[in-house]
Amino acid sequence: MTKRYAVVLAAGQGKRMKSKLYKVLHPVAGKPMVEHVLNQLNEVELEKTVTVVGFGAEKVTEHVGNDSEFVLQEEQLGTGHAVMQAEDLLKDKEGTTIVVAGDTPLITTETYRELFARHEEAGASATLLTAKTDSPDGYGRVIRNEQGEVERVVEHKDANEGERLVTEINTATYCFDNKKLFEALQNVSNQNAQGEYYLPDVIGILRKQGEKIAAYVTPDFDETMGINDRVALAEANKVMKKRINEQHLRNGAAILDPDHTYIDAGVVIEPDAVIHPGTVLKGDTVIKADAEIGPNSEITNCHIGEGTVVKQSVAADSHIGDRVKIGPFAHIRPASNIGSDAKIGNFVEIKKTDLGDSSKVSHLSYIGDAQVGSNVNVGCGTITVNYDGKNKHLTTIEDDAFIGCNSNLIAPVTIGKGSYVAAGSTINKDVPEDALSIARARQSNKEGYASKLKDRNN
Ligand code: UD1
Ligand code: CA
Repeated sequence: MTKRYAVVLAAGQGKRMKSKLYKVLHPVAGKPMVEHVLNQLNEVELEKTVTVVGFGAEKVTEHVGNDSEFVLQEEQLGTGHAVMQAEDLLKDKEGTTIVVAGDTPLITTETYRELFARHEEAGASATLLTAKTDSPDGYGRVIRNEQGEVERVVEHKDANEGERLVTEINTATYCFDNKKLFEALQNVSNQNAQGEYYLPDVIGILRKQGEKIAAYVTPDFDETMGINDRVALAEANKVMKKRINEQHLRNGAAILDPDHTYIDAGVVIEPDAVIHPGTVLKGDTVIKADAEIGPNSEITNCHIGEGTVVKQSVAADSHIGDRVKIGPFAHIRPASNIGSDAKIGNFVEIKKTDLGDSSKVSHLSYIGDAQVGSNVNVGCGTITVNYDGKNKHLTTIEDDAFIGCNSNLIAPVTIGKGSYVAAGSTINKDVPEDALSIARARQSNKEGYASKLKDRNN
């Protein structure tokens, strides 16, 4: 079988993005564009993948370091010049090299495979991936002769009026006979509108040498979209959103309004989970079967257990067990671990807290830096006073404890197993197991005093 290689072009700055962030690192569905490219590409069996980096080289290599080798393009002199940087690693290899731009994040493994297959079947020296569109502005146009054979590619800025009417565009994805690619690159010049060494010029050069040029016209222009500015980035996110949501629907997740549900690539959702509108699922999130999320919830890097319900809430970097009820309007902050059958109700904030099975924090509380056992009831308005202005301290609440409403637990402090804290207490000493602790001013009633006060004020 023919050996296969890949070169990914990711050295450009992306001026048209008007951004501090290097273009290929802009996320589509939460994942940098170039990572999409490498992930899809690496599903094809490749001998070697070389990514050309330049602007933001360190950051780019950080993101895709495991998926590719790197070469540095110190000056961005064009896409042809970029491929030349891989010369030392590749030029002597027999086989097929696919070249892909780092800013076409929507192309799928299937399309890459199909392009390789067609290229190898045709025995071509180069095979272009092309697409047809009614708005070809900005793209290189594929120029064919009267027999319909590809002659060359002309960049938009170099094209004459007639050429600009061509609706078949170069997607910047190609398969080449590897050795012929590097030979032809020697002959690419920078005599053009942008003063750059264009990779697509290789097509015209090979054609003039009598080499066979093939083209695979994809039926799906959307997939080949090149992202040069934020308008295209927004469009790509839309396309990717639809693709991801449809995939989850096919797998059995109930996404009620896919147009208003935003799920990062890589999120796992099990069948019969229900996702309501306005839900954003980010990072490495897993939603187990029969869970119900939203409306209007944002979950980042969380495990959400089976049958758990999260309404109008925000949760990050936490593990949430089965059959938990969260919200509406709760905030689960990082490093929390919520046991099964627990409840976290309205306007409750939880941070860096283990909450045991069947424990409840139902209303208006802040529980931070706490170890809470199982079957604990934390009354409305309870606060862990975890911060002394300098350090954070731990609150421990053991199994079966009952914390009355509006209590302050001044950490470090331990509330013993099965104990009671009376409502309104400010607790700054440990409460022993099975004790009732009352820490508030004693109430005194002055009989008949109210009418006396009224008389005095008249
Ligand atoms: C390129 C193609 C155009 C095609 C379009 C499809 C060329 C000359 N033109 O145009 O025919 O229709 O893609 O999307 O190739 N890059 C480098 N080093 C450089 C220049 C660019 O690594 O010196 C990288 C960029 O980071 C980017 C990719 O190559 O990921 C494409 O470059 P870009 O400037 O976006 O090319 P387009 O003008 O879009
Ligand atoms: Ca581009």
